[in-house]
This record gives sequence, structure tokens and C-alpha cells, in this order.
Amino acid sequence: MDANVQVLEMEIRHVPQILTIAELNYPGKYESKEVEAVFTGVRQMVKNKFFVVEHNKFVVSFGGWCVAQSWPDKYGLYWLNTISTFQGKGYASLIVEKIIESVKQEATGRRVVLMLSCREQLVKYYQKFGFVQQQSNKDLMILVINN
Ligand SMILES: CC(C)(COP(=O)(O)OP(=O)(O)OC[C@H]1O[C@@H](n2cnc3c(N)ncnc32)[C@H](O)[C@@H]1OP(=O)(O)O)[C@@H](O)C(=O)NCCC(=O)NCCS
Repeated sequence: MDANVQVLEMEIRHVPQILTIAELNYPGKYESKEVEAVFTGVRQMVKNKFFVVEHNKFVVSFGGWCVAQSWPDKYGLYWLNTISTFQGKGYASLIVEKIIESVKQEATGRRVVLMLSCREQLVKYYQKFGFVQQQSNKDLMILVINN
């Protein structure tokens, strides 16, 4: 991996840069307050962990997992995003790998699923990591993690 590239657990200091990328990738779609609430774990019913890829100390890619207390065996992969000028360099893949590793650690000794919702164009991308498209709902992809 390039020496200027680091995969880190998200910290509060990353939030403004993350919000900028989210706004560029989805103009006007997300309320920054809502995003901040998810990222900073303000919603107490939901546990989460987010990761960033920094390139020369700037966030270029991010994503993470959330789990609701009421469904402890169903983890969701959320918010995978790479800033457009850095797409296609494998940065989101670093995040997906980190998320899978982190859920495995978090769920030690349990069988859990990691779920995500995506557009048809990205199905092949997620299949590379072992996610399987659900026949009942083609937007939904699931990775079973047996610990
Ligand atoms: C999807 C996304 C996160 C990938 O980020 P990235 O850092 O470029 O990802 P990587 O470099 O690890 O991998 C790029 C792969 O994504 C695929 N990809 C990205 N966007 C795609 C699209 N719209 N259609 C088809 N494939 C796409 C590329 O074909 C490439 O596949 P390859 O590795 O087989 O060549 C990025 O394109 C993005 O932020 N998109 C906008 C937000 C989004 O759609 N997020 C996903 C929500 S489920």
C-alpha cells in the first residue's frame, strides 16, 4: 500500500471531510445533522464503527457498520463512498475489507450476517468480497460470518 495511504478508525476530526464527500456524491440528499448523529453514535440504540482512508492526511474514502441492539446478529454495511477523483484505486475495497474484519472481531463466537443495499451495477463488486445477492430482494446482499 502507498506510504501516504492509511486506513484508520473514524474520529470526530474526520466528520467535516466526510460530510463534504457525502454532499459531493449525493448532492442535497442528506441532512448533515442526521449524518453526524450516525457517525458519532448519538443514536444510543445503534452501535457502529466507521473507517476512513486518508491519502496525505485527507479523507478520500469511508464507510462502516452499524448494529441495532434489537437485532444483534444483523450488521449493516453503510455509507461506502470514495471521493470521485480517487475512485478506482482500491480505496473502497480497503474499507470493505476493514469492515468485514471488524464485524468478525465484534461478533466473536457468534454467527452473524453483514447486510447491505446496493444498485444492480455494484452487485459484482460486492460479490468479490463474498456477499450474495438475495433472490427475494435484488437490492439486498448478505455475507454470512461464521465465527
Ligand atoms: C462504489 C464506490 C464506493 C467504489 O469506490 P472505489 O474506491 O472506486 O472502489 P474500488 O477502487 O475499491 O473499486 C472500484 C470498483 O468499483 C466498481 N464500480 C464503481 N462504481 C461503479 C458503477 N457505477 N458501476 C459499476 N461498477 C462500479 C468498479 O468497476 C471497480 O471494480 P473493479 O475493482 O472490478 O475494477 C464509489 O464509486 C462511490 O463512492 N460511488 C458513489 C457512492 C456509492 O454508490 N456508494 C455505494 C453505496 S452501496
